[in-house]
Amino acid sequence: MKKGLAQTLMARLEALGRISDEPGRLTRTFCSPAMHRANQLVAGWMIQAGMSTRQDAIGNLIGHYAAEHRGQAGEKVLLLGSHLDTVRNAGKFDGPLGVLTAIACVQQLHEKKLRLPFAVEVAAFGDEEGVRFHKAYLGSMALAGTFDTRDLKRTDAEGITMESAIQDFGGNPKQLATARLNPDRLLGYVEVHIEQGPVLEKKKLPLGVVSAIAGQTRAHLTFNGRAGHAGTTPMALRRDALCAAAQFILEVETLAKNRADLVATVGAVQVFPGVSNVIPAQAQLSLDLRHAVDDVRRSAGAELRKRARTIAATRKLQVDWQAVSETAAVQCDGSLSAVLGEAVKPRQKTLVLLPSGAGHDAAALAAVAPVAMLFVRCKGGISHHPKESASEADIRITIAVMGDFVQRLAALHYERV
Ligand code: HGY
Ligand code: MN
Ligand code: MN
Repeated sequence: MKKGLAQTLMARLEALGRISDEPGRLTRTFCSPAMHRANQLVAGWMIQAGMSTRQDAIGNLIGHYAAEHRGQAGEKVLLLGSHLDTVRNAGKFDGPLGVLTAIACVQQLHEKKLRLPFAVEVAAFGDEEGVRFHKAYLGSMALAGTFDTRDLKRTDAEGITMESAIQDFGGNPKQLATARLNPDRLLGYVEVHIEQGPVLEKKKLPLGVVSAIAGQTRAHLTFNGRAGHAGTTPMALRRDALCAAAQFILEVETLAKNRADLVATVGAVQVFPGVSNVIPAQAQLSLDLRHAVDDVRRSAGAELRKRARTIAATRKLQVDWQAVSETAAVQCDGSLSAVLGEAVKPRQKTLVLLPSGAGHDAAALAAVAPVAMLFVRCKGGISHHPKESASEADIRITIAVMGDFVQRLAALHYERV
C-alpha cells in the first residue's frame, strides 16, 4: 500500500537524521560533508515532487515548481522552506520538518497534475543556526540580499574561512549577489517549524500561526586575567578570568529573571589554559539575548555590557565585548497569516496566534518579503535536543493545511487578475 505523505515525511526525517558530521549524534553544519549528502538526498525528493533543483552561490538548495504559465512576464513566486543545518547533538525536526512539509505540499500538486498561477520554490537553507561560523541566517540572508560579505573572512574552529568553505562546497563566494531573490517577484515566504516550546501542547492543539519572531542579540565576551599557580597564589592576588566570567553569567541570569519575557543564555564557555592546577588566564563566553520588543533587548544588552566592565574593573582584569549579530524582532505579515489561519481553522477547534522566542529564516526573509509561519506542536516543547519530536498525525494535518493554504492563495490571485 502506497505510503501516505506524512508517513513518507517521517521516514525522510529519519533518513536525514542519520546524516551527520559527528558519529553518534546529529550535527550538520554549514557547507560540511554531511550538508553535501543532505542536499543530494533532498534534491532527489524535490525532483520526485516535480521540481527542478539548483544549488545557489552560498550553497542553499532550491527547488522550483513552475507556474501554470511558466516564465510569463511578472510571474510571482511563493517561497516555502526552512533550514537543513542543525545545532550540535540536535533533534531531527528543527529545520528539516519545514523543508520536507514544503516538498510534500508541492508533491500534492504534482500528483494531482495541478499548477498554480505562481511558481512555488522550496528553499533548504544551508545555515540558520550559525554553529560553524557563529553567525546565523547565512543562507536566508543571501536570498534576502542582506548577507555581509565581510563575514566571508570569519573562520571556523579549524581556521577555515567561510569563503573557502563555500568555495569547496561548490558555491561561489564571489557571486553571492546571484543568490539574491527579486523582491518584486516574491508573493511571500511561509515556513513550517516545530514550536520549540510548550504552548500548543498545553492547549492540546496541533498547529499555531506565528504572530512575531523575537529579536536576537548575539555577543562574544573575553575576560582576560592572569594565569598563576593554583597552589601558591594567594586568593587576594589572583586575576581569575573564570571567576569573573562566572560572576557575569549569574548576573545575566538575574537580570533576565527580573525583566518580563526577556531570555538570556550563556551557552558556550571556553577556558584557557584549561588545566586544573593553573588559575584561568582567559574565559570566552557566548551571550544570546532575546525579546519581542527591540528596545527591551537593546537596553538589557547595554546594561550587561556595563556589568561586564564593572566586574572586570573590580577584579583588576580586562573584558572585551564583541557584537556578533543583532536581529530585529519581526512581525509576521497580517494578510499572509490570515490566509494561513483560514486553512488551519477547518482542522482544529480554535486558531492560536503565538510569538516565537526562537529565531527563524523568516526573520531574515522579512527584509524582502511578507512572511508567515506555521508552528507544529512538539512533544514537551523539547528542541535543540535529540528527543525533539512531533507526531505523524500532526504532520498529516500540517501537510493538509499547507495544501489548502496554497490553493486559497491561488484563488485570491485569480480574484485579483
Ligand atoms: O537559536 C534559535 O533561535 C534558532 O533555533 N536558530
Ligand atoms: Mn534551531
Ligand atoms: Mn530552526
